[in-house]
Amino acid sequence: MIRLEHVSRTFREKNLEVHALQDVSLQVQEGEIYGIVGFSGAGKSTLIRLVNRLETPDTGTVRVDGEELSGLKGKALSILRRKIGMVFQQFNLLEGKTVYHNIAIPLRMEGRSKAEIERRVSEVLDFVELGEKKNAYVSQLSGGQKQRVGIARALATKPKILLCDEATSALDPQTTESILKLLKRVNQEMGITIMLITHQMQVIQMICDRVAVMENGKIVEEGNVLDVFGQPQAEVTRRFVRTVINDQVPETFYDTIRSENRHYRLEQLKFIGDTVNEPVIASLCRREGLDVNIVGANISPMQGSMMSVFILQLIGDSEQINAAEAYIDKSGAIRKRLIIDWENRTVTETA
Ligand SMILES: Nc1ncnc2c1ncn2[C@@H]1O[C@H](COP(=O)(O)OP(=O)(O)O)[C@@H](O)[C@H]1O
Ligand SMILES: [Mg+2]
Repeated sequence: MIRLEHVSRTFREKNLEVHALQDVSLQVQEGEIYGIVGFSGAGKSTLIRLVNRLETPDTGTVRVDGEELSGLKGKALSILRRKIGMVFQQFNLLEGKTVYHNIAIPLRMEGRSKAEIERRVSEVLDFVELGEKKNAYVSQLSGGQKQRVGIARALATKPKILLCDEATSALDPQTTESILKLLKRVNQEMGITIMLITHQMQVIQMICDRVAVMENGKIVEEGNVLDVFGQPQAEVTRRFVRTVINDQVPETFYDTIRSENRHYRLEQLKFIGDTVNEPVIASLCRREGLDVNIVGANISPMQGSMMSVFILQLIGDSEQINAAEAYIDKSGAIRKRLIIDWENRTVTETA
C-alpha cells in the first residue's frame, strides 16, 4: 500500500549538509499499523512527509497504492492527499474556532454540501466519542480532546491511510493510552492503514503490527513487533526495548548473590507469545534436579499476546546446568547466559 525504495533526502543549509534519509526502503501493507521509532533527528518526520508529498526525495521512489508520487501535480496530487489523513503532535487545529468548524474544513475544501458536512462531522465526532463537544471552542478542550478532534478531522474525508506524526507525544500517559486505543479502533473498525512515527517505544508496543527502527537517517532494524521486541539486534533497538521491558538484573542482585556459595549460572529467558507450551521453569527443577532462583521477572502485554522475561539463577553442578540449558533451548524460549562483572556491577549477555 505504501512503498519506499532507496529513498534519500539531504538538506543543505549554508555549508551544512544533513542527510535526513539515506537509502531507506520499506513497505506498509494494507490494513496494518506500521510504526517507525527513533530518537529526535533520526529522520522520521521527513520520512512520513514523503508519503503525502509534503516532502520529495532526492533519489528513490515513493509509491502509494501502486502510484509513484514524484510526478503528481494539481488534481492528481489532491486525489492522493484525499486518500491520506494526517495527525500531528501539536494538533494543528484552529484554537479560536469550534470543533465543528475545524472538522468541516477538509469537507468544505472538497465542496460538500452543508447537509453532507453536518452529517459527516457528527459521524466522526461520535466515533471519537466527542459528540457533545461539537460547538465547543478548541481552546476550551484538554490535550486529549484536541487530539480526538485532530483525528476526527483526519477521518472526515474517509481516507484509506492515516499518518500520525508523534500523535501522543504531547499527552500524559493515561491520555496517550486512550488515544492509542482510538487509533486501534480506526484501524480495526474503519479498515484504515496507519503509519505512525514516535520516539516512544510503548506506542509501538501497544498498537503496532510491525516496526522499523531509525537512526541517523537509516532504518537499522525492521520486523514484526514481537520479533523485534524479543530479539532486538541493533544497539539502538535494545535501548528502545529497554525503555518498556526491563530485562536487566536488579541492582540488589549484586549484593545478595555473593553470599551464595554453591555453583550456579545466570540465565535470561524470554518467552514470546505462545511459542512455548511447556512449564519450563517447573521442569528445570523437576527434570534436571536444579534449584532455580527467580532473580528478576517482567511480563508485558503485546499485540494481544504476552512477552515475559525472567532472570534465573540455576543452581547445581555443571552437568546439570548444561542439560538445563539444552532443555531450555529446545523448549522455544530465547536464552542468553549472563556473565557478571563484579567489579563494575554489570552483566554481559552471551549466546
Ligand atoms: N526543512 C529542513 N531543512 C533543513 N534541515 C531539516 C529540514 N527538515 C529536517 N531537517 C533535518 O533533518 C534531520 C531529520 O529531521 P526529522 O525528519 O524532523 O527527524 P525526526 O522527526 O526523527 O526528529 C534533522 O537533523 C533535521 O534538523
Ligand atoms: Mg519529527
